[in-house]
Amino acid sequence: MLNIQKLHAGYGSIPVLRGIDLHITQGQAVGILGHNGMGKTTMLRSIIGALLPTQGSVHLNGKDVSRMQPNQRAKLGMAYVPQGREIFPNLSVTDNLRMGWVKRGRATTDDLDVLLNDFPRLKPLLDRMGGSLSGGEQQLLALARALAGNPQLLLLDEPTEGIQPSIIEEIAETLTALRQQRSLTIVLVEQNLDFIASVSERVLVIKRGQITGEIPRDQLNDVDTVSEYTGVSSSH
Ligand SMILES: Nc1ncnc2c1ncn2[C@@H]1O[C@H](COP(=O)(O)OP(=O)(O)OP(=O)(O)O)[C@@H](O)[C@H]1O
Ligand SMILES: [Mg+2]
Repeated sequence: MLNIQKLHAGYGSIPVLRGIDLHITQGQAVGILGHNGMGKTTMLRSIIGALLPTQGSVHLNGKDVSRMQPNQRAKLGMAYVPQGREIFPNLSVTDNLRMGWVKRGRATTDDLDVLLNDFPRLKPLLDRMGGSLSGGEQQLLALARALAGNPQLLLLDEPTEGIQPSIIEEIAETLTALRQQRSLTIVLVEQNLDFIASVSERVLVIKRGQITGEIPRDQLNDVDTVSEYTGVSSSH
């Protein structure tokens, strides 16, 4: 459903992505592991169209979206939770969630109820300001908002960054449940090995703007193997 071929992108004259190739089928969850500065965020921004490629292509369900604007790609089913979450700190949780429908007309109370069924932890927080939530609650809010439009493809940028372990586990469970219920396709970039292992069916490694390898799932707990691939050390 997502097909990326020889994608190059960068900032000004500085190349960051140097030929990304990635093929993901519907309903698959793919984790991409990489150090700081290797191009993880740049890759996701190129997929959603915040950054246009200098070479190469992105196809979604067979359609070439490489030159499309982010809002057009969103209409075709892409959703993105940026690094740092970017919720609205001075809006209530409810209003933050409503933002997820902005481009599709107003959300009804039913729409919100249905969405909140997958995010029970947000239910008692609806009147709180977004900025008053904990980091983990904000991440759940950002995730819920991204799912409001019922996307087919969810792109997540380091959702566990700066979050308590108990909520990290809850986020992993929520993602797994959503994938099963909705046949959602997920691309997750992360540096947290345990999380990536629990959410992803395949784990790829990004280094200096290229996908350099795939870590067999059964070897994700093997510290030596993983650091050989990435240099990222496991918390095991
Ligand atoms: N807006 C920008 N202008 C210029 N260079 C940028 C910009 N954003 C990122 N870069 C550079 O591009 C490279 C890749 O950055 P990117 O944010 O994609 O890395 P990352 O893998 O997401 O890192 P992190 O784990 O720290 O989030 C880095 O060298 C970074 O300094
Ligand atoms: Mg990043």
